[in-house]
Amino acid sequence: MRWGQWGVRMDSDRLRTMIEECLESGIDTFDHADIYGGPHATESDFGRVLGADPALRSRMKIITKCGILLPDKPSSAPRIKHYDTSARYILTSAEQSLSSLKTDHIDLFLIHRPDPLMQPEEMAEAFFRLKRDGKVLHFGVSNFKASQLRMIHRHWPVEVNQLQVSVEHPHALFDGSVDACMELGVRVQAWSPLGAGSMDGAAEDERLRKIHAVAEIIAQRHGLEASQVLLAWVLTHPAKITPVLGTSRIERMRTAVAVGMQRLDREEWFMLLRASTGRDVA
Ligand SMILES: NC(=O)c1ccc[n+]([C@@H]2O[C@H](COP(=O)([O-])OP(=O)(O)OC[C@H]3O[C@@H](n4cnc5c(N)ncnc54)[C@H](OP(=O)(O)O)[C@@H]3O)[C@@H](O)[C@H]2O)c1
Repeated sequence: MRWGQWGVRMDSDRLRTMIEECLESGIDTFDHADIYGGPHATESDFGRVLGADPALRSRMKIITKCGILLPDKPSSAPRIKHYDTSARYILTSAEQSLSSLKTDHIDLFLIHRPDPLMQPEEMAEAFFRLKRDGKVLHFGVSNFKASQLRMIHRHWPVEVNQLQVSVEHPHALFDGSVDACMELGVRVQAWSPLGAGSMDGAAEDERLRKIHAVAEIIAQRHGLEASQVLLAWVLTHPAKITPVLGTSRIERMRTAVAVGMQRLDREEWFMLLRASTGRDVA
């Protein structure tokens, strides 16, 4: 999301270097969405690198998402941002992602946001066809609450729910979303695990400043960086959450990978939660 037009606008050479350095660091999964950078734009940038070096594809797994439609140009349809989870749209978007990414399969295909008009039977029919044809290996959802997850899960055993989870934004741990994932055996991926970089501007915001100060104290205890402590907070949760990192800097990727098996003890975990919510637990 942050490597293309919506972020640092890497050209093909930089993108290729970043991909190779990630692979060498042990990061082998790349998170896309049809809308990143504009309709299929960042997928196409990434696809150009894979097209030039097809051997790279076998070393990685690709996630992409569909379901959000953005108005592209003032004159183009759609005219307003909206969701579409019809079978027809899911199939069309998947085909376009395959072509943009220059790949014959997507490893994990997510429905980007819960659509109030979604029909789980129809979504399952689209998933069935994509899986039968070998175009998608695994399916999941993103930003689904517990009830929405259970509804789709009755019709298709989705494997992943990609949720916003961080010290700064811990709500999915309390609104039942993560509980439902654990109940149903759905893996949780955390987007913006470092609060979308908001710690950079921590000085501006009292709450973020407190979170950062606590992260620094814990970091010094363990000989870590504060960003690693924030990541360890996510990793400490028993749902075995997988962070989806957004940095465009390889050294920050390596710092994140170096967290390894580091976990926080309960008191440290709750210290950060208290800094985030502003109060002790009841
Ligand atoms: N499913 C969804 O609805 C959804 C929504 C949003 C995002 N996502 C996915 O989740 C990914 C991650 O989200 P995110 O980019 O907001 O996550 P993030 O890892 O929390 O934030 C990354 C941002 O933080 C900055 N940053 C500042 N200090 C950093 C540090 N010490 N270490 C690492 N980064 C630091 C990065 O800047 P630099 O680049 O300069 O390091 C980058 O702009 C996205 O790229 C996208 O693929 C999914």
